[in-house]
Order: sequence, then structure tokens, then C-alpha cells
Amino acid sequence: MKQEKREHWGSSFGFIIAAAGSAVGLGNIWKFPYVTGENGGAAFVLVYLICILLIGFPIMLAELTIGRKAQKGPIGAFRDLMPKNCLIAHILGITIGLSGLGLLFFKHWGWGVLAIVLAAAIFKLSWGVVGYISVICAFVILSFYSVIGGWTIGYIVDTIRGVVNFETTEQASSFFGANITNLPWAISYHILFMVICIALVMSGLKKGIEKWSKILMPLLIILLIALIIRGLSLPGAQAGVSFYLLPDFSKISTQSILVALGHAFFSLSLGMGIIITYGSYVEEKQDLFKASLSIVAFDTIIALLAGLAMFPAIFALGGEPTAGPGLIFQVIPTIFHKIPFGTVWIFMFFTLILIAALTSAISLLEVVTSAMMDEFKFSRHKATAASGISIVLLGLLSAVSVANWDNIEWLHTFFVKGFNINVSSFFDVADHLTANWLLPIGGMLLAIFVGWIWGTKHAVEEIKKGAPEFENTSFLVIFGGSKDKKPYVPTFAAIWGFSLRFLSPIAVIIVFLYSIGWI
Ligand code: PHE
Repeated sequence: MKQEKREHWGSSFGFIIAAAGSAVGLGNIWKFPYVTGENGGAAFVLVYLICILLIGFPIMLAELTIGRKAQKGPIGAFRDLMPKNCLIAHILGITIGLSGLGLLFFKHWGWGVLAIVLAAAIFKLSWGVVGYISVICAFVILSFYSVIGGWTIGYIVDTIRGVVNFETTEQASSFFGANITNLPWAISYHILFMVICIALVMSGLKKGIEKWSKILMPLLIILLIALIIRGLSLPGAQAGVSFYLLPDFSKISTQSILVALGHAFFSLSLGMGIIITYGSYVEEKQDLFKASLSIVAFDTIIALLAGLAMFPAIFALGGEPTAGPGLIFQVIPTIFHKIPFGTVWIFMFFTLILIAALTSAISLLEVVTSAMMDEFKFSRHKATAASGISIVLLGLLSAVSVANWDNIEWLHTFFVKGFNINVSSFFDVADHLTANWLLPIGGMLLAIFVGWIWGTKHAVEEIKKGAPEFENTSFLVIFGGSKDKKPYVPTFAAIWGFSLRFLSPIAVIIVFLYSIGWI
């Protein structure tokens, strides 16, 4: 069968805006402001910026590079670029396999079987496993992301109907609780959200993802700026600004550094093949270094602005800044209710969230769709429909389990008996498994792959196709110094290689050891 020619982005701007659309999501607008609040305001922001610069940015560039080199999504990219025989992979396979047997011996059936399956996959596919894990990860994340996306649509509809007006946060909470446990409400909006994503992805790269990102992202910025101006102009907003911007270094702990690192991965959409896939649609003449820089800067600026949209308004209207995850659905509608034209502001606020969620969701769906197109040679239509429908089905488990685990007792028992974990819903399993484990592991394996296995030398060759100066430029050159090697100042390429080979893997390993309680 004739292989269809791979689509490419229509323009460099289109590509950057689509990737930025993926990166800017619930993580920026909802999570970043409240974790900043919990971890010392400006001091935390500083730590976060360092993580972004030293680890997030290098991995972003690495993902784009292997995507463009292979002109394939994560599965094909790892398969094409890995060496035929990789000792490290064999050693890892044997270790995981033996651990699996050990787990079975101690009657940890679920984990044991999982480890043995993983070991077998590593023997068969070697580094290709990382590609498959990325796609599975995107699949699972989208299944619960779209449940939240659905809630947002539901809130927009309810705002228009005039029922989102609460005097107190208690009223707002019970409204929220009643909605998400109301199955027809939660399920129909989850499906509606996915139908929109499917429609956008089905229309193709340029006419769907790129075109809609170009329309939606500017709209997002306008809404965000409107909300910032409204918030800052409320009497009493100053307290919120100080809370958010004055550093309190005493609140910085090891824990907050870990939160900052984990959030950097999540916020930049790293570690799950999205950026590899988007990179595979990039042409050789493009400067990947500048593109990565723009995407990372964009994501960070939007996160910072989101804090500025939230805290002044929250403080001015007497909300609780540390309300955590419930902030957007419970606190915000209550406080906007108190100002003139409150409903209009609530409507704008949820539209902002919906846009952020949508442009991230289409990038997740694109990963799965493009994997099906590459691997099974499906047409775009067929691939989108197949992946979209399976994700809707998996998402039902999240939606239904949030309402009540008893609705799917067998699944609950499966986790408790098989894996000895008792979580409050399938939604939580999917969320924790992916955000806390699979993303950082994916990011670390990618850094090791590019740094040690495929090799930074090949990677730098690829980057140079669109950015010939990458290998020779250093801060010294930028600030007017000469290009000869004295005094020795590391070039961007050298710093990048160092981060991929040492800094990023070690940082992620420390995070893990810490989160499983070993340090
Ligand atoms: N980067 C997105 C955000 O900041 C989150 C995301 C995670 C998007 C996973 C896609 C996939 O919210």
C-alpha cells in the first residue's frame, strides 16, 4: 500500500502556536496558581523557572529533535533511531523480569504480572517500549482530561441558564458535588467534549489543529487579560498581588522543589510523546532551538499571568487562596457572583478554561491518532474515530467512578485485590499513575535515550539543519565575545548535552526516590 506523504505544519508560527496550545492547559490556569500559593509564592516561582530552564527546556528540544529526525510519532521514532542491540535494555529487561518473579513469589499478583509483561515487552521491542508507553499515557490522560473538560462545558451551559450563582462556597460546593455525581450530566458533557476534539483532529493537521489553535489561543490571551484587569481593579486586590509576588523563602522545602519539577513536565506536555509527534510534522529548515524557546516562554508567561488573574480577585473578594483543586469550580463562581455583571465574568472564565483544555486535549488525541495512522496505516478519519471512541469508553470509567465506586465494583476490587491500592476513584488512578509516574519516567528515558543511546552528536546534527549556529553559540558569543575557544565557555549544545546526560535523569531519579520515601 502506498504510504501517504506526511503532512507538515503550514507555517512556523502555526506550529509554535499549536505546541503552545498543547502546553497551556489546566496545568497553567488552574494548578500553577494554587501550587504557587501553597509553596511560598514568588520563591516557588523562582524554583519553577530554574526547573523549566535546566530540565524542561532541554527535554522539549530533545523531543522535537527526535520527532523531526524520524518523521514519526513516539512509537516509530524510538524504533527507527534505536540501535539493533542494546545492552542496557537487556539488563533492564532481566532486572524487571526477575523482580516480577519475586513479586509473584510474595503473592503480589497484579504487580508481578505487570512486571513480567513489561520485561517481555522490553525483550521484544527494546527502546520501542518507551514509544508505546507514551501513547498509552496520552490515551489514559485524555480519558480523564475530557471528563474535566466536560465539566467545564457543563458549567458554561449552566451559567447561560442562570443557575451558576452562589452566595457562599458551600452552595458552590454542593452544586459541584451534585453535578459530578449526576451521571447523565457528567457523561453527556464528557462525550460532547470528545466529539469536539474528534471533529477538530479529523479535519487534519493544518485545517484542524493548526487553524483552530491560531483562532483559540489569541482568544485565550484576550480573556486572560480581561480577567487580570478586572481582578486588579477591584478594591483590595493589592493583598493578592503581594501574596503572589513577594517571595517567602522560608516556605521553600525539598517538597516544593519536587512539586516544581513534576509540574514543569506536566505543564510543558513532556514525557508522553506529544512534542515528538508535533516535531514529526516540522520541516528541516526550521530552527528547533528557537521554537523550543518560544514554546517554553509562552507556557511560562501564561502560567504567571494566570496567577495574576486569580489571586487579586480572590483576595479582593475574600476567597480562600489555598482552596486547592476545587478553586476553579467552587471559589471563582462564588466570588465573581459578587461583582456587577458577575455572570458575564463567570462565563468568560469558564470559556478560558475550556479553550485551554481543548487545545491540550487535541494534542493528546493527535498522538494516539497519528500512532494508528503510522502503525496500522489507517486513514486520518478512521484513526481519529477509532481512538476517539475508545477514549470516550475509558473516560466513562472515570466519570462513573467519580460519582460512586460502587457503580463499578469489579474494577475497584481489581485494584484493591490485585494491586493492593485503595484509591477514591478510577479517575484518581488514571491521574496519579500518569502525572506522578509515567510522565517523569517517560521524560527521563527520553533524556537518557537522546543523551546516551542515540547520542547528542546525532541530535546536534539534526538541530543544525535549521539552526547552523547551535553548536558554536554560547552566552559569550551572544554578548559580543569572539567565537574562538578561549576563554572556554560552554556552547548551548554542550549545556544541552549535559542536561540530557546527567542533570535531567538524576533529577527525576531523586524525585522518585523521594516520592517512594527512600530519601
Ligand atoms: N500541559 C498541559 C497543561 O499545562 C497539560 C497536559 C498534560 C496537556 C498532558 C496534555 C497532556 O495543563
